[in-house]
Amino acid sequence: MLISNIGLLAGIDSEHRTCLRGNEMSTMHTLQNAWLRTDGEVIHSWGSMDTFPSTDGNEEITDAAGGMVMPAFCDSHTHIVYAGSREGEFVDKIHGLSYEEIARRGGGILNSSDRLRATSENELYTQSMERAREIMAMGTGCVEIKSGYGLSIDSELKMLRVTARIAESVPMKVKSTFLGAHAVGREYAGRQQDYVDMLCREMLPAVAAEGLAEFVDVFCDEGFFTVDQTAQILEHAARYGMRPKIHANELAVSGGVQTGVAHGALSTDHLERIGQEEIDLLAKSDTVATLLPGASFFLGMPYGPARSLIDSGATVALASDYNPGSSPSGNMRMVMSLGCIKMKLTPEEAFNAVTINGAAAMDCGADYGSIATGKTANLIVTRPMPTFAFLPYAYATPFIDRIYLKGQPVT
Ligand code: NIG
Ligand code: FE
Repeated sequence: MLISNIGLLAGIDSEHRTCLRGNEMSTMHTLQNAWLRTDGEVIHSWGSMDTFPSTDGNEEITDAAGGMVMPAFCDSHTHIVYAGSREGEFVDKIHGLSYEEIARRGGGILNSSDRLRATSENELYTQSMERAREIMAMGTGCVEIKSGYGLSIDSELKMLRVTARIAESVPMKVKSTFLGAHAVGREYAGRQQDYVDMLCREMLPAVAAEGLAEFVDVFCDEGFFTVDQTAQILEHAARYGMRPKIHANELAVSGGVQTGVAHGALSTDHLERIGQEEIDLLAKSDTVATLLPGASFFLGMPYGPARSLIDSGATVALASDYNPGSSPSGNMRMVMSLGCIKMKLTPEEAFNAVTINGAAAMDCGADYGSIATGKTANLIVTRPMPTFAFLPYAYATPFIDRIYLKGQPVT
């Protein structure tokens, strides 16, 4: 396929890098008035319209009509497999309850766990597929999905099997993470360490035996799992080759960043409450610092220190955290705008954070997240826009004209 009349081709990377660190994030290469050619599922070549290639007549030519072409979003942190919704807690929050208070009353994650356990695998698949389609329509081409609302072996496996079915059903790339340590299952109330021991002894081997998760996650935070329990889980998971991507420092300075980095985490996520020590550690490491501005927005929490992380040299990704409790939206364009408005990222930095660095946080920066030869042709064709900065600026104006995933139009 050949796309002609591209007003702005954005996110070009001739060096084929797999992530961008620190001040590298401020650069985003573009070409005005361009064409782009795909070959099957991958990006083949691009150039300026005055060098428009000749075609043999068999190639499909499609006109971008002056719109921008950019890589599809890479959303590296979501919980889109869940049952029902939690707008009751949303109203509780309006009346003054905090996220932690709702969790202590048995709401929160355990509320979603009750609903998930009562929902059949087929029904869970149907509900979750709706969200998978929703995020594809908003321009996401690569997504990570966590378990963590099952909290028993059977229900965690049910969730992960649904994720595997979604992966087979959609052209979007899907990465799976086992988050059995999201909360303590109800059967283990008051016996948190017993739950962790069971998770290591029974859940991890069962998940690994079916090959259902590439990554492992732990909610390492005040009121959830301790650093020792996190280390225990990550060490067991390493035996099965599962790399950590952990929830850390959302609610308190938890030690989660240190534990994650020490265990070679691919990413540590949330980071609303980190100080200079954590920033310096992340800047020195290869762990991606993933911030979730949608959760800060929805819960009224502080925003993670994206500016300091980038200025210190860290690799920063932004993700949606799409989940029923703290971020009921997978809109990556909005995430990008929040990055600019609330975290003071430039449009270019925010763009790199939701594309190539998101891919890096899913260990697929070699294949996704930029316009590079041989990378998967996951492309958004936008409506014409005056400049690139218009994208995060006009944050609610519809911008998508067409989407291609694996080189095929998404309808
Ligand atoms: O990333 N913080 C932990 N887990 C999710 C929220 C899950 C929920 O409330 O259902 C998060 O914000
Ligand atoms: Fe999360």
